[in-house]
Amino acid sequence: MADIILGIESSCDDTSAAVIRDGWLLSNVLASQDVHKAYGGVIPELASRAHQLNIVPVVSQAIDRAGITPEDITAIAFTRGPGLMGSLLVGTSFAKALSLAIDRPMVEVNHLQGHILANFVKQEGRENLQPSFPYLCLLVSGGNSQIVKVTDPLHFEILGQTIDDAVGEAFDKCSKMMGLGYPGGPVIDRLAKEGDPLRFKFAKPHVDGLDYSFSGIKTSLLYFVRDQIALDPDFMEKNKADICASFQKALIDILMDKLIKAARQTGIKEITIGGGVSANSGLRARIEEEGRKRGWKTYLPEFKFTTDNAAMIAIAGWYHYMNGERSSLDVAPASRAAEL
Ligand code: KG4
Repeated sequence: MADIILGIESSCDDTSAAVIRDGWLLSNVLASQDVHKAYGGVIPELASRAHQLNIVPVVSQAIDRAGITPEDITAIAFTRGPGLMGSLLVGTSFAKALSLAIDRPMVEVNHLQGHILANFVKQEGRENLQPSFPYLCLLVSGGNSQIVKVTDPLHFEILGQTIDDAVGEAFDKCSKMMGLGYPGGPVIDRLAKEGDPLRFKFAKPHVDGLDYSFSGIKTSLLYFVRDQIALDPDFMEKNKADICASFQKALIDILMDKLIKAARQTGIKEITIGGGVSANSGLRARIEEEGRKRGWKTYLPEFKFTTDNAAMIAIAGWYHYMNGERSSLDVAPASRAAEL
């Protein structure tokens, strides 16, 4: 009999539910929360309230669009963490209630593992290229910047990670300070396309091994912009495309330097990316370009699977389900990855 997995994702500011059947996507529904835009960042308390409003309609739609009934579900996969505690509580509590109501098991999923396995969601009418094991995943989002070695669907090892800010945070905070809006990544990505990436230079961090740092470059951009505005109040308006292009290039250079080092050290040539920042057009182009130069096989997730989504939670949950793993009804969400 086929395994039908309902995935539930509520770790940050997106409420999402998806249904997969033996790895094939039947539905993927997402409700984004616009309420945070006015504040230039996610407000945890508002996020959990919005999840409470969204979760029932989002799950119902995912079940309807998949053409199944709740009784058809084999197991419920949910994000246990890491993420915002209030947000995680909504998804976890909902999963428990549904598990009791339909008498089906729950399987907890590490959100990061979802991003890492996003390429394994199969879709009708697509090529569905999947990396071979072991592969490296550059996991870049609002909360993470990591290079992960994935040995099989259930095992992964973090080879390097940020020691301070995540790369998405650098995009978001700098965009906010420059008055360009939130979330910063998509805005900077769009403006960067019209700018000169070589116009401004930013100091590169010196961090040992495969770890990253993004707080220095963020501060140097902000001081630079502040000093220039003191000399010419219209500096931002006149130069924003060049600033965005140069800043984005600097961030991509930092990401790629360590990824190339990791590929060289491990000898792995299967490369994937995941997380919200993997939607960045400059980063995607660079990965492909480096891949061609270095004989890598690169796998870029579709845009809808780069940001938080329940399809990736369902696929990761399916692997855990097949491995015999089940969560008990007293499972508690974990906001930090170390607690999982
Ligand atoms: O994975 P994600 O949806 O969740 C969090 O970890 O919060 O990632 C959100 C992050 C934000 O920092 C956003 O600015 C960034 O992904 N992002 C982008 C792009 N689209 C989203 N960063 C750069 N370029 C983009 N096109």
